[in-house]
Amino acid sequence: MTLAELLRSERVRLAKWTHSEQQLVCSEVLGLSLTQQILSAETPIADHVVEQIFDVAQRSAAGEPLAYILGVSYFDGLRLTIDSQVLIPRPDTETLVEVASALISDGGIQLIHDLCTGSGAVALAIKARHPQCTVTSSDLSDHAVRCAVHNATALQLDVECTQADLFEGLSVFQLVTANPPYIAHDDPEVDADVVSHEPAMALFAENSGLSLIERILTDAPAHLVDGGVLCLEHGHRQAHDVRKLAIDMGWQSVQTHQDLAGRDRVTRMQRP
Ligand SMILES: C[S@@+](CC[C@H](N)C(=O)[O-])C[C@H]1O[C@@H](n2cnc3c(N)ncnc32)[C@H](O)[C@@H]1O
Repeated sequence: MTLAELLRSERVRLAKWTHSEQQLVCSEVLGLSLTQQILSAETPIADHVVEQIFDVAQRSAAGEPLAYILGVSYFDGLRLTIDSQVLIPRPDTETLVEVASALISDGGIQLIHDLCTGSGAVALAIKARHPQCTVTSSDLSDHAVRCAVHNATALQLDVECTQADLFEGLSVFQLVTANPPYIAHDDPEVDADVVSHEPAMALFAENSGLSLIERILTDAPAHLVDGGVLCLEHGHRQAHDVRKLAIDMGWQSVQTHQDLAGRDRVTRMQRP
């Protein structure tokens, strides 16, 4: 069977991959670059590789996220190794990186910490964009810490990751970023495949999803220098509540930023 025939086959089409998902499968399973995929369309594929792709397609059609099947996810141009014990980094979260990056580019920020780092996506993207900065990260999950350390090593990015319950045991920074769990347990909008495959501790929080955000807002001032900035990702319907909580606690210059779809996604603020 040629690559073109394989991709046209009923067993692959059942997975309903987008063009970019199909390219990802071919590059991860066949080891072919995009150009090679085009040039190899009529090349016969070994039977065991055909079976491997059928297996990926079958699991994918059953709802398992492709990133977990392949063990890989791309974030801000970085190839991250992941598994089902860490959240799959979302393109939406690149908004958090953009907001942090703009602040760093304005000058004066050297010390950055990423809380709730998961696979390390945000911390590693910031370090890749701003190699002159000292970037550290942490997560409550031991497994996430191991994953973030693995990704930092694989990408040759100097970002330490430690295990910590939010700010517990951490020092003082100029900029803190966080994409904490913020989904309410009864949120009807959450995709069933997300709930059944991604780790609950990465997704859900008490108090309508705001409990971790509230703790971060309370604890962050002790871990920021004068004028230090906190950037938080939150649900697109939570911006008003996050701004209210922050303003009531005395945070300054509270501003919400939108993702590429125009939804309120990141709120940044200055230490009270
Ligand atoms: C929404 S995921 C974000 C992962 C990653 N930053 C990303 O954007 O892909 C939230 C992360 O927060 C971590 N987490 C949950 N409770 C925490 C806590 N109390 N302290 C630190 N990390 C926590 C989870 O283990 C998970 O990795």
